[in-house]
Amino acid sequence: MAHSLLILPGDGIGPEIMAEVRKVVGWFDRNGIAFEIEEGLCGGCAYDAHGVPITDETMAKAQAADAVLLGAVGGPQYDTIDFALRPERALLRLRKEMDLYANLRPAKCFDALADFSSLKREVVSGLDILIVRELTSGVYFGEPRGVSVEGGERVGINTHRYTESEIARVARSAFELARRRQNRVCSMEKSNVMEAGGLWRDVVQEVHDAEYPDVELSHMLADAGAMQIVRWPKQFDVIVTDNLFGDILSDAAAMLTGSLGMLPSASLGAPQANGRPKALYEPVHGSAPDIAGQGKANPIACILSFAMALRYSFDAGEAADRLEGAVEQVLADGLRTADLLGQSGGRAASTSEVGDAIVAALDRAG
Ligand code: NAD
Ligand code: IPM
Ligand code: MN
Repeated sequence: MAHSLLILPGDGIGPEIMAEVRKVVGWFDRNGIAFEIEEGLCGGCAYDAHGVPITDETMAKAQAADAVLLGAVGGPQYDTIDFALRPERALLRLRKEMDLYANLRPAKCFDALADFSSLKREVVSGLDILIVRELTSGVYFGEPRGVSVEGGERVGINTHRYTESEIARVARSAFELARRRQNRVCSMEKSNVMEAGGLWRDVVQEVHDAEYPDVELSHMLADAGAMQIVRWPKQFDVIVTDNLFGDILSDAAAMLTGSLGMLPSASLGAPQANGRPKALYEPVHGSAPDIAGQGKANPIACILSFAMALRYSFDAGEAADRLEGAVEQVLADGLRTADLLGQSGGRAASTSEVGDAIVAALDRAG
């Protein structure tokens, strides 16, 4: 039976990188993994067409799909519209209503790119860490929120809030993932200044002691964690952290790999009756308005997000390995977009050249 895939290209470079992902999906479709694809509007383009960043109809399709693949949303032309209608709200609605609480953001440094990171080769070569970011709670969703007037001045309020069960379930995801890797988890919070950070730390420890005593667990304050991520990132295996710290730490981790254009992500819910989680796959980067429409965008983060879909939604780990291998091969051959050229110069490949080369590498590999 064909896997159903809802594709939401979004705004800015979203449609450009998604066109390359479709070439890759097409390759697998011709080679034994059948997909049934639907495309929808999400973000600023949905706002332009329907006055909302995502319609109820598209939400229903996302809920029903085996996996959702998203490009990126947002752009400067939407920065002044009402907060509730901004493109970014579409993402938050998808995450919240699909209950995608575990956001997996792996940062892997491909050998061919070790010299292109802003850090020294020895710091990043062979790097393979996984940030597990809580995605449905914390300051992104806590109430009360808003801007009001108090005593004649404006006051902005957002609320950082976590329940015990919200912390426990994402901790379980991190421990499960660690068991399939190096079996180590580092939990990051600010328990020195935030009560909710103290609860985070306690609950992660309790889940560990009761259910995952075999996994090595450590705790780190998030500011020190940010420092350690750039000082010696290879000390980490799995990092588990809240929604806001995870957002920031994963952008920092992206640069270890050479470019924000390299980092994929998977956002997963609890397993459903069929054993699979609801899932949304998207690059960590945004819509990159500064380079949109110029054929400069790196499509690899989005293509690697599809590799994560193969692994986590379609039980096709070998196909995912093969796709990651094809990406590695293209990078090793020296073909790359401008974001990966660094100081060395050289010719920048276009978005579609990179997509075509990855498909050609898939062909060569089998
Ligand atoms: P951004 O990630 O879009 O861009 C940051 C920098 O990285 C830019 O210089 C951009 O050119 C570069 N970059 C990003 N992706 C790249 C790629 N694939 N190839 C080459 N270069 C790439 O972040 P921003 O500029 O802070 O945000 C722009 C818009 O995107 C905002 O509206 C923001 O809200 C939105 N955003 C959306 C998502 C998402 O859809 N998941 C994530 C982050 C930001
Ligand atoms: C991300 C983005 C989003 C976030 C925005 C666009 C809502 O930065 O996915 O990392 O803050 O979660
Ligand atoms: Mn972010």
